[in-house]
Amino acid sequence: MREINASIPFDKALWRQDIAASKAHVTMLAAQDIVSEADASAILGGLDAIAAEYEADGVPEDWDLEDIHMTTESRLAELIGPAAGRLHTARSRNDQVATDFRLWVRDAIDQTLAGLDALQRALLVQAEAHAGSIMPGFTHLQTAQPVTLGHHLMAYFEMVSRDVSRFEDARARMNQSPLGSAALAGTGFPIDRYMTTQALGFDAPTKNSLDAVSDRDFALDYLQAAAQCSLHLSRLAEEFVIWASQPFGFVRMADSLSTGSSIMPQKKNPDAAELVRGHAGRIVGCVTSLMVTMKGLPLAYSKDMQDDKPPVFEAANLLGLSIAAMTGMVADSTFKVDRMRQAAELGYATATDLADWLVTQADIPFREAHHITGAAVKLAESKGIALDELSIEDLKAIDERIDDRVYKALSVEASVAARASYGGTAPDEVRKRVAEAKSALGMDA
Ligand code: ARG
Repeated sequence: MREINASIPFDKALWRQDIAASKAHVTMLAAQDIVSEADASAILGGLDAIAAEYEADGVPEDWDLEDIHMTTESRLAELIGPAAGRLHTARSRNDQVATDFRLWVRDAIDQTLAGLDALQRALLVQAEAHAGSIMPGFTHLQTAQPVTLGHHLMAYFEMVSRDVSRFEDARARMNQSPLGSAALAGTGFPIDRYMTTQALGFDAPTKNSLDAVSDRDFALDYLQAAAQCSLHLSRLAEEFVIWASQPFGFVRMADSLSTGSSIMPQKKNPDAAELVRGHAGRIVGCVTSLMVTMKGLPLAYSKDMQDDKPPVFEAANLLGLSIAAMTGMVADSTFKVDRMRQAAELGYATATDLADWLVTQADIPFREAHHITGAAVKLAESKGIALDELSIEDLKAIDERIDDRVYKALSVEASVAARASYGGTAPDEVRKRVAEAKSALGMDA
């Protein structure tokens, strides 16, 4: 029982939040004349002393004391005597843990947001530098049309922006104080829930005591946002894994984020990127874990809910590492722009430009233009040459309406410059989006 019951091995991570919530609670109890000023100040002094001990030596792990709440209360009794027993007036561990955990998740969100801000800045710096660097754009990982590296990186900037907004939404939704809900039904003591709400930086007290002690949707909101974010980071990591491979050779990753092989001296492995990809799987596992924990629980608190914390702590740790790794990878990688540009020339990436030229310059319906272009690609393929290496005679033999102005449209530069629709890959468009994003983040233009 001692071993299965104890949550102190992991919930000691809540000590700062537990002390802060206890201080807010006892200050309110004194203001409401529920405990004396003398007892309250003894309790406050004791809590500060305990915080200093935890800071210096860590939280002691005694399974008999079960959790962080009992550990702190028992130490308080050792330090200040029987007055310690007044701290738990008008409170239960059920509202206490719900409050501590909300505070912890709120802090985790703030840290995540700071990390994502750094990642966004790194993406913007590289996107600006490479707004005109041409690379192959893929669908099905087959060369499709040329794009710019800046455009490609800004795609991830957009994904991260939505992640930021999901974390902000989760934070706004969860920022209500459960403290004062007591075990499940509220309390008969004349407490002031608005006072503790304000002291702990919450926006409002929760409106239903049963709900407040027994839902963990705030933790799930966080985990779901974390899982979505980790999927984005994992996709970006996968791009780096592909780009860093020798056949691609699009990027040279920083030595600080790669490792060598113990047997093959030439190897430089993208370990950090692979671990970000791996961590995403674990973070998704954390969401699943807490969802399954919660799905069958009747109101109000059940001990199953003690298992809410490990997946949240694990996900927060893994996500923090993943964001930091991807920020370093984006900031410190060297993109091999010549190699990317060469690759963009392969695979008939400008075939669509030929079709578009036939539409705009020869007034041919797009479906027919698509067909004519297909014939040109087939011919070039059979000769083993690029589209713009076909002679004008060859092209005219396919369709006599083609003339030599077409060659200008077939370069990769012309191709990306032409895609100037809003949100398109044209370097000037990318520069506009980067400038807007920089000013939104308060970066100098
Ligand atoms: N250690 C418990 C948890 O983390 C604290 C709440 C205990 N409440 C109870 N009624 N046993 O959930």
